[in-house]
Order: sequence, then structure tokens, then C-alpha cells
Amino acid sequence: MILLPRWKVLSCGIVLLLGVVVLVYPFLRLGSARQYLVASPWSPKGWKSAKGQDELPLRPPPPPPPPSPEKSPLKYKPAPTYTAPPVKDPFPLLSTTSTPPPIPAYNVPPKDAWKAYDGVTVAPPLLIGFTRNWPMLLQTVVSYLTAGWPADQLYVVENTGTQQANARAQLSLQNPRFLNHTQLRKVLGVRVVQTPVLLSFAQLQNFFLALSYDHGWPYYFWSHMDVVALSHEAGVPGLTAAAGEKGYKSLYTLCLETLQQTLRGSSRNATNGASTATPDKVNSPPPEPAPSPRWAARFFAYDHLTLQNPRALEAIGGWDAFIPYYMTDCDAYSRFAMAGWSVADADAGIITDTASVFDDLRALYRDPGVVPRFSDPNPPAPEEKKSSKAGRRRGRRGWGGGGDSDADTASLSISATATAQAHTRGPAAPPPSPPHHRQRDVPFPHEPMNLSLATDYWWVLRREADNMFHHKHGGGRGRNTWQGAQRGGGTSPLGTTRAGSRRPSGC
Ligand SMILES: *[C@@H]1O[C@H](CO)[C@@H](O)[C@H](O)[C@H]1NC(C)=O
Ligand SMILES: *[C@@H]1O[C@H](CO)[C@@H](O)[C@H](O)[C@H]1NC(C)=O
Ligand SMILES: *[C@@H]1O[C@H](CO)[C@@H](O)[C@H](O)[C@H]1NC(C)=O
Repeated sequence: MILLPRWKVLSCGIVLLLGVVVLVYPFLRLGSARQYLVASPWSPKGWKSAKGQDELPLRPPPPPPPPSPEKSPLKYKPAPTYTAPPVKDPFPLLSTTSTPPPIPAYNVPPKDAWKAYDGVTVAPPLLIGFTRNWPMLLQTVVSYLTAGWPADQLYVVENTGTQQANARAQLSLQNPRFLNHTQLRKVLGVRVVQTPVLLSFAQLQNFFLALSYDHGWPYYFWSHMDVVALSHEAGVPGLTAAAGEKGYKSLYTLCLETLQQTLRGSSRNATNGASTATPDKVNSPPPEPAPSPRWAARFFAYDHLTLQNPRALEAIGGWDAFIPYYMTDCDAYSRFAMAGWSVADADAGIITDTASVFDDLRALYRDPGVVPRFSDPNPPAPEEKKSSKAGRRRGRRGWGGGGDSDADTASLSISATATAQAHTRGPAAPPPSPPHHRQRDVPFPHEPMNLSLATDYWWVLRREADNMFHHKHGGGRGRNTWQGAQRGGGTSPLGTTRAGSRRPSGC
């Protein structure tokens, strides 16, 4: 037996250990490399062990997350517990007549009125884009007609994305994309243009520009489809006398004046045509537009009604179709300003942003047998109604208006004669209301209102339009509830209603 000194044994052991480590380490590394290669979906076949991965001691895969029985990997929209009632035809008279009722005489435009304005070389078209909600569109169209816009200069741009379904009358009233070509063209006498496919809001604006090339329009007006337009029939000092008096100017007349002044690059002479009419605090004249031949747009109540210069739109490269909906207006109008094209406010009438519809559009023709009142085409579910009413009460100056027409017209103070007429000639009039019921923003010049007098009727329309505005903007439900109205309706597969397709492409 050979005895080695202890230090030699120790150093030999260390050397041996190191040797083992150096020899074994690459195999360990190779093991994890193999594991990677085998696990990787990109590893070439040849890299795999010939006997398959079973032989290799793979690192155990991480345990799968414990299955939770409550959570399904798919999420479904909750089934609606409430469906809004069907919308009502707001103008049944159109189905039984070939001519609409006469518009107030003082708003009837003289034939070819636009020719009297120097520089106005073509009849100014008014374009109204439409994607959904026929009652809302019809209200907007009728309000412009009764405010004096000539029917043959009003173009409804059908942007429903339903191809020929409406032209062939394949959809019906309960379809959100329904539009009656016959009633618009044959009865009301307005024009209908169709977009080839459904366009976003920005694309629709570019389509308006395309129409201006087709028709040779050096300018055009466009309006949203969810507004009620009224002329300044009570008069506005410095702008127009009251309806029926010398110096009265309808919405259409004031639009022609604004157009002429804008084209001339001159500002309005504020003393012309003025009278000492009833002051209208809500609609005092706006600041004069800056004189400029490089004009882009004139806004009447922001862009709810807009006078547009197609040259300016071309100069900025059109609307940005990659900002398809909200904020696209901010983008386009900012680019006008940055490129030195003027944008200014103008006043031609009262353009009210709404989400509800007059129950009978004969009201806009001042039919004394119809008491103006409105309904929400997509009223809230009963429970929602309670909470949103409570929200409104907290919100706006104590005004609790909603779409429930019984309450909304309850405070109208209308003469007994008119109420009696309403009973015989139209829908039942609301019961007289307690005077403290509700504070309205638009005060009547006197009470009671006599619906047989056109001027009184206008005040009632004006106040109801104002209530419609607060119904839209004061509730807790968002502004575009009307876009959720209507379900189904019609035979065309192109008219299929899709929940969640609510977009402001038509307004
Ligand atoms: C459209 O209006 C016309 C005329 O009022 C009517 O005869 C027709 O039935 C309406 N079409 C649809 C699809 O409702
Ligand atoms: C505005 O009109 C009035 C009355 O017609 C006239 O006297 C005045 O000179 C005009 N002002 C301007 C700046 O044109
Ligand atoms: C309302 O106006 C009509 C038409 O001017 C008139 O005949 C009627 O007497 C008026 N009614 C009231 C209650 O003043």
C-alpha cells in the first residue's frame, strides 16, 4: 500500500473534480440546447434526436393555468333586456298626398331668388348626408323647406350602404337605413344622391367635394341630419325684421346674403334691413366674418349648417379619411386655418341640434290643429329612464325635460281655441299644466300662445326645439341615442341591422 502525503491526495481530488466538471458541463448545456431545439417550432428536423424527444430529459413545461369554471374564454354582449318601441312615421300625411302642405307665406322663396345676388352664379345646393333614422332626416329636411330653402336646391345624400335597397323600396320604416325615395323626390320635391358604398364621415365630406366637380358648384352648403332649422321669425336687430314685416329675411335669404358677402370678400353692412324687432338674446348677431377671398367655410351654429368653399377643401387635400369620425372636423378646420383659409361664424337662423322628432311634422307647416310636441325615437328602458331623469335634475338648472311627450308639452300654455281645434283636427292636446311645472329657457313674449297665429306658432316651435336640444344634451345617456332606434324592417340582406354599427357617418 502506497501512502501519499495528505496534500497530494487533496490536490489530486481537486484536479479530478475539476476534470469531471469540465467534461460533464458541455453535456449539461447540450441538454438544455436540445430541449430548446426540440421545443422550438422552427428547429430543423435533423436537429431532433433520432429517437424523438421522449428520450431527452426535457424541462417540465409550466403547469397550465388552473381552469376557472366561471370564466369562458369567449365574451358575449349581454342580451338586451329591453327593446325600444317601434318608431312612428312622423309625417303620415306624405303617404296620402302628392303635395305637402303650404309653407308659411313669408318664407316662400321668390322664384330663382339666388339670381338677384351678384356673384352668386349657380343655385346654392344644400347637402344633407343620411345614414340612419328616417324620422330624424325627414324632420331636418322639412324644417329647411319650411324655413324657405327651395326643394330643388336640397340634396339628400343617401349614405346607407344598402346599395339599391331603398331605391327599390326593399326596406321599411323599422329599418334604421330606411329612406323613402318616393316621398323625398315626388312629394317633397328634393333631390336624392346615393353614395356607392357606406362612407365614413370624413369620406362623406370628400364625396361632397366630388359632387361639386360633377355639378360645377363653386360653393355648397351642407347640414347635419339631426337638426331643426328655423328662420328668425321673431326678428333679430341688425339682421332681420320679424316675419310679415318689411325687411324680414328667411333663413334661405340670409344664407344667400352671407354667400354673396363671402364671395365678395366684404363684410355685412349691419344697418341694412334692420328693424326694431324683438331682441333675441340667444341669437345675437355674431362677429362679422373677416373679409378674405381665401375663404374656407362659414359656420351657422358651428358646422350644423356650413357654407363650404370646395377650392379650400381641395387646397388642404380634403378631409383625412384616416380620422374617420369624431375629431376629423377639428383636423380639417385647423388645416384650413393653418393654410390661411378663413373660417368664420355667420347667422341665418336657429339651427338646433336634436335627438328627438316632432310627433307630427305638420307642426313645421304651422298646422293649427297640431300641437308641437316631440318624442325620443329610442327612449330609455324604464329603469334607465328613472336614473337619467334624476341625473338631469342634478345637471341642468332644474330642467327635467325628457322624451316623454306627455310631460314635455304639459307646460305649453296654449289658448283654449287652439286646444279645441287640436281635439277636432289632430292628436289630443295636452292637459293644461301647473304654471310652476318647469322653467323653460325660451320665454314666450306673451301667454297664452294662439296656435292659429303663425307668429305664436313659431314661438311654440322655437321653445320645443330648445327643449329638444336640452333633451339631447342634458340627459345622462349621450347625445346620439337616436342612432340606436329601429330594428329589422325589410327584405334586403343589405339592410341587416348590426348592433354596434352606430357611427355618426350620416350626421
Ligand atoms: C314610400 O312612400 C310612398 C308614397 O307615400 C308610399 O306609397 C310607399 O309605400 C312608401 N314606401 C315604403 C317602402 O314605405
Ligand atoms: C351701410 O348702410 C347704410 C344705410 O344704407 C349706409 O348709410 C352706410 O353708408 C353703409 N355703410 C357701409 C360701410 O357701407
Ligand atoms: C286666435 O287667433 C285667431 C286668428 O286670428 C282668432 O280668430 C282667435 O280668436 C284667437 N283666439 C284667441 C283665444 O285669442
